[in-house]
Amino acid sequence: MYSRIAGTGSYLPSHVVTNADLERLVETSDEWIRSRTGIRERRKAAEGETTGDLAFHAANAALASAGVEARDLDLIIVGTTTPDLIFPSTACLLQNRLGANGCAAFDVNAACSGFLYALGVADNFIRAGSARKALVVGAETLTRMVDWGDRATCVLFGDGAGAVVLEASAEPGVLATKQHADGGHKDLLYSPVGVSVGFHPGEPNAGVCIRMSGNEVFKVAVRTLDRIVGETLEAAGVDEAQVDWLIPHQANLRIIEATAKRLHLPMERVIVTVDRHGNTSSASVPLALDEAVRSGKVQRGQTLLLEAFGGGFTWASALIRY
Ligand code: COA
Repeated sequence: MYSRIAGTGSYLPSHVVTNADLERLVETSDEWIRSRTGIRERRKAAEGETTGDLAFHAANAALASAGVEARDLDLIIVGTTTPDLIFPSTACLLQNRLGANGCAAFDVNAACSGFLYALGVADNFIRAGSARKALVVGAETLTRMVDWGDRATCVLFGDGAGAVVLEASAEPGVLATKQHADGGHKDLLYSPVGVSVGFHPGEPNAGVCIRMSGNEVFKVAVRTLDRIVGETLEAAGVDEAQVDWLIPHQANLRIIEATAKRLHLPMERVIVTVDRHGNTSSASVPLALDEAVRSGKVQRGQTLLLEAFGGGFTWASALIRY
């Protein structure tokens, strides 16, 4: 038994924050942001609009494209680092809104790798026969937690959601998934506030925000992604020349270009949304996938390589025959 992607969906809040808007907030420039990251603009959730709202819209679009009713789902997993509440999970709130009551529902927090971790879990549920239809969502409202006075991070992040419906299939769809973590890098990318520790010991007065040693994260991300895409291709016995599309986590155009180069893939075969979405963490890969499907770039039968890297550090990848 395999799992296959039956449908995809996504949702972006309507409010656009351009680099010019940020020039008015912090000492930065459109030129700096574009040349260092590739980002031109990002979306920001409206006041009162939550991660769960974004997830709900993306999930409905994915269910509609799959032709699946919410009541027929066996499993809902939401990858998020910005849940509506500490609990109930965003997945439980989503389950209730979709009318899918009764099926298993939980969140996965693996920072920017959250969606690909969730996809791996759902694929394994289906392969093991524990579920036949699963909804996997990546949804975030990171603009709620960025420090708008910190130019090193506030220019990077955006809000959004993406979703896929996976279903059991006799034909291979998801060919391989890989997930890894190394908590040894916990101090390079983190949020200084928590329930159990209260405030981070070194930052007793910090609010909810993102702390990142960007340059060091950049170097580890490039090295690590290089390794995991190779590992995933090997696990599936697929050659890099057979990959039709690379659908990477959208953190930084330069990191994406480095991974594409490693795979000998021209940028025409890479899905890039970072220019318009910024880094939407867990949402970035399913958002990019859905855009590529709806634009007609990604076609049924093609081979897709998905990858992500994030706080933890975590990193994950999936090879999919779409
Ligand atoms: N505008 C203008 N200048 C800025 C700036 C901004 N928004 N942010 C930082 N700078 C400055 C820094 O203060 C520094 O100045 P200094 O040399 O006077 O100290 C200079 O630009 C270079 O900073 P640095 O952090 O070395 O830049 P960089 O080339 O590494 O680019 C990132 C910064 C964040 C874009 C890049 O490191 C990155 O993308 N990292 C990985 C992000 C990522 O993948 N996140 C994890 C996955 S979620």
